[in-house]
Amino acid sequence: MITGGAGFIGSNYVHYVAQKYPDYDITVLDKLTYAGDLENIKSLDVEFIKGDIASAIEAGKAMKDADYVVNFAAETHVDKSINDPQSFVKSDVLGTQNLLELVRKYDVERYIQISTDEVYGSILEGSFKETDNIDPSSPYSASKAGGDLLVNAYYKTYGIPVIITRSSNNFGPRQFPEKLIPLFILKALHDEPLPVYGDGQNVRDWIYVEDNCAGVDTVLHKGKLGEVYNIGGGNEKNNMEITKLILEKLNKPETLIQHVQDRLGHDRRYSLDATKTKKLGWQPKWSFEDAMEKTVNWYRDNEKRLYPKTKTL
Ligand SMILES: NC(=O)c1ccc[n+]([C@@H]2O[C@H](COP(=O)([O-])OP(=O)(O)OC[C@H]3O[C@@H](n4cnc5c(N)ncnc54)[C@H](O)[C@@H]3O)[C@@H](O)[C@H]2O)c1
Repeated sequence: MITGGAGFIGSNYVHYVAQKYPDYDITVLDKLTYAGDLENIKSLDVEFIKGDIASAIEAGKAMKDADYVVNFAAETHVDKSINDPQSFVKSDVLGTQNLLELVRKYDVERYIQISTDEVYGSILEGSFKETDNIDPSSPYSASKAGGDLLVNAYYKTYGIPVIITRSSNNFGPRQFPEKLIPLFILKALHDEPLPVYGDGQNVRDWIYVEDNCAGVDTVLHKGKLGEVYNIGGGNEKNNMEITKLILEKLNKPETLIQHVQDRLGHDRRYSLDATKTKKLGWQPKWSFEDAMEKTVNWYRDNEKRLYPKTKTL
């Protein structure tokens, strides 16, 4: 059972699993919010259930025969969480808690909670390890942290088979164009200004989505129950570097760059130490350059479907 499988990382994970394990029966549960699109998985032979992870009936229907559950479903956009925190608590905290109750009820072998490096907060030097304290800054990361704490509490209290992964910023195909990379590619293709927050020096550790999917798969099959695993790409870039690279790849002028007022509570730098996950035998395969090339080409090829979505923001 894969929740949020019509969204960005979830749909890439559905593709990854369908290809690697053709004998697995995959059930996708997704509420199809603005960020989910069935088009992302329409070529695949999976059972799709439209529903909310916070609904015991809908999620129960999807989970009752599942051996493995991987929970990607969440509200994910930091800017949205600043304007509407409650919808984040509903999906990312209460939704997670509902799934954990269902794991207690059904005979699930492994439950993977997909979390984020954002729960650790900002770090100016060095990298976060799984043993570091969480210190989230936004309503989004606080809601994800709430989900993580419940997963941990359910492990300690009820002994259910859970593991958490925390990945850095993903990029690649099938992402709703509200986040930096797809938004800027589509805007640049249309010669529209690219709104860079503040001085553009905020650093993120970028990982190609397929490498994260492989990391989740490794943790699902080899990770230790009750543990947290960081999945980082090791590609630290600031927003201005990413913006200039996109413009260069599309042969567009830097005059499209437009500095806008910084995001409230904007974390300066995220950085993950992924040594623990690497010890399970995983490591990122994609170079940042090759993955960016592939990503830019994908959005260029799918521009007709995705560009109109930038107008719904
Ligand atoms: N995108 C990143 O860079 C990144 C980095 C680290 C961790 N994560 C985590 O990975 C997961 C997936 O992120 P994404 O970028 O693919 O998100 P996304 O916004 O692209 O997709 C989220 C999906 O979940 C579905 N969904 C939302 N609320 C739901 C609910 N209550 N019930 C059922 N379905 C619901 C949406 O319809 C959508 O298909 C999230 O848990 C996120 O916190 C993302």
